[in-house]
Amino acid sequence: MLPQEFLYQLKQANPIEQVMGSYVQLIRAGSLLKCQCPFHSEKTPSCVVYPHNNSFYCFGCHAGGDVITFIMKMEGLQYMDAVRMLAERAGIAVPEQERDHGEANLRMRLLELNRAAAKYYFENLTGNDKRGLIYLKERALKPEIIRKYGLGYAGEDWTGLLNAMQRLGFSEEELFASNLCSRSNKTGNLYDRFRNRVMFPIFDLRGSVIAFGGRTIEKDGEPKYLNSSDTPVFKKGRNLFSMNFAKKSQSKRLILAEGYMDVIAIHQAGFENVVASLGTALTPDQCRLMRQYAEEVVISYDSDAAGQNATVKAVNLLRAVGLRPRILHMHDAKDPDEYIKKFGSAYFRKLLEEADDAVSYELQRCKDGTDAATEDGAITALHKAVGVLAGIENELDRNVYLSKLAKDYEISPEILKAQVQQEIRKRRKGEKKQVWRTLTTAPMLRDPINPEAAARPREAKAEEQILCYLFRQPDALEDVLRQIQPEEFVTDFNRRVFVFLRDRLQQGYPFSLSLFSESFSPEEMGKITGIEAMHAELDITPKAVSDCIRILKEKKLNTAQAAELDDQDFAALFNQMRQKK
Ligand code: UTP
Ligand code: MN
Repeated sequence: MLPQEFLYQLKQANPIEQVMGSYVQLIRAGSLLKCQCPFHSEKTPSCVVYPHNNSFYCFGCHAGGDVITFIMKMEGLQYMDAVRMLAERAGIAVPEQERDHGEANLRMRLLELNRAAAKYYFENLTGNDKRGLIYLKERALKPEIIRKYGLGYAGEDWTGLLNAMQRLGFSEEELFASNLCSRSNKTGNLYDRFRNRVMFPIFDLRGSVIAFGGRTIEKDGEPKYLNSSDTPVFKKGRNLFSMNFAKKSQSKRLILAEGYMDVIAIHQAGFENVVASLGTALTPDQCRLMRQYAEEVVISYDSDAAGQNATVKAVNLLRAVGLRPRILHMHDAKDPDEYIKKFGSAYFRKLLEEADDAVSYELQRCKDGTDAATEDGAITALHKAVGVLAGIENELDRNVYLSKLAKDYEISPEILKAQVQQEIRKRRKGEKKQVWRTLTTAPMLRDPINPEAAARPREAKAEEQILCYLFRQPDALEDVLRQIQPEEFVTDFNRRVFVFLRDRLQQGYPFSLSLFSESFSPEEMGKITGIEAMHAELDITPKAVSDCIRILKEKKLNTAQAAELDDQDFAALFNQMRQKK
C-alpha cells in the first residue's frame, strides 16, 4: 500500500479541477465546477467537480471518484499507472515501487543538506560577525522566537556555506540542486547564493527544512528578499510559511499575512495560527492546504494598495475552497509587524476580533471609484452591491446584509430584494436545474455496483446516509459503531464500504475519498463518490443517522421473526394479509 502521506501530497499536487481542466472545459458554478461528462455523451453538463474534497461525480452516468479514478478512467490505466502519471505531472517521486531510485535519493540528500545549512546559518548568528543578530534585535525579535523559527545569518563570504557543506560531505551537484549555491558563468565555480542576509528556513508539515528566504540587512540591498527557487523538495506555490506551527494551534481560524516578518511578529505577539505565502501571490494549492486545518482565514495583508488588491484576490481563492474569509483593517501602520511594534499585541487582538467578514468588505469596495454621495455614483455602487448579495448562498445571511444595505442607501428593502432575487434567478438558470432533473429522475433501479439496492431501496438509502454521515464526520465512527455493526448492513456493497472505512479510520488514517481508490474499482468509486454527491443538499444529523440505523435493525428483526415462524404460523399470517387486502 502507498503511504498516506504520499497520497496526500499527490492529491495536493494534483487539484482535480486542474487535472480535469486539461481534458474538459470546466464552468464555474458557485463553489463548484461542472462540465460535459467525458464518460458519456451529453449536450448539457451534468458532471460536477468538487474542489473541496477533490472529487467529481456525474449525475448523468454516475461516473465519479477522486483524481486518481479520473485518470484511470480517462486514460484507461491501472491504479499504479495512474498514480505514476499524476506523480510525474506534479514532479513528485512515487515511494517504494520507485522507478527512479536516484530521484528519491537526491530528495533525501537535499533534505539533509537543508537541515545542515539551517544549522550553519543559525550558528553563524553568534559567530564573529554579529550583524545578523543585531538586525534581528533591531526588528524586536526575542531570542526564543529566533530559536523557534531557526532564523540564521549568511555573512559576506562568497563560499562560507559552500565550504562548510563540502566539509560535511555534500557534493557540488547537491549544493547546486538545493539552490543554496549558484554556479558562476565565467569560472563555472559554485558560490553562496545567500549573502549579507538574515535567513528564514521554510519547514514542511513534517518539520523538514525544504527551502529558505533571506532578507538583506543592507540598506538598499537588492532584492529585499531572496527566496529558494523550486527544487526537487520545494514547490513554492504549495507550501505556506509557518504552517508547521500554525497547524498545531488547533484553531479553526488562520491568519494570513504577506511576509516572513509579519508572520513572526504576529506569532511573537501570541498568535501561533499565522501563515504566509512564500514570495508569490496566494495559490489555490495553498488555500486547499489551509482548508485541511481551518474554516476561517483572517487576511492581514499590508494596508497599501497592493495589499488591498491582493486581498480581493485572496478572498475569491479562499472562498473557492470553502474557507470563510475575513479581512483585518489596520490604520496608522503599513503592515502587522509595524502595527504590533507601535500599538502592542492587545490592540492587534482587537483588530482580529473586529475583522470584517468578506461580504461587508466587498460591499464597502463597491463604492470604490464612484462618489456614492451623488445619485449616479450610488446607482453604480448599488448595482455592484446587488451582485455581491446575489453571491451569498445562505438566505438568512443574505437578508441581514440586504437590510443593512437598504438602510445604508436609504432605499426600500423590498425593491432591493426583488433586484437581488432577479440576479440570483439569472445566475441559477440552467445551472442547478440540470443537476436536479437528473437527480430526481435517476432511477434506483438496476444498479450494477450495488445490485441488492433495487430490492431493498429503503435499506440501501439508509445505509448510504450512514456512510455519507461518516464521510463528513469520521470522528463519529465510534458512536455509530456503538449502534450498528457491519453484519447488520443489508447490501453487500455498502457493507464493504463501511468495513473498509471503519478499518482505515481505526488505523488512524485521516478521511479522504481517495482512501477508497486503492481497493475499489473506478466503477465502485463512482458509486462511493455518488453517495456523497447525492446527499450534498442534505444535512445529515445524528438523529437522522439513528433513524437510518433503526430502519436496518427493523428489517433484521422482521427477517429473524420470519425465520422462526413455523408452517402453521406462516399460513395464518398469509391469511391475515389476504384479508387486509
Ligand atoms: P514586503 O516588501 O511587504 O516586506 O514583502 P515586509 O514583509 O514588510 O518586509 P520587511 O518588514 O521590510 O522586512 C512581503 C513579502 O513579499 C515577498 C517576501 O515573502 C516578503 O516577506 N518578497 C518581497 C519577496 O519575495 N521578494 C522581495 O524582494 C520582496
Ligand atoms: Mn514589513
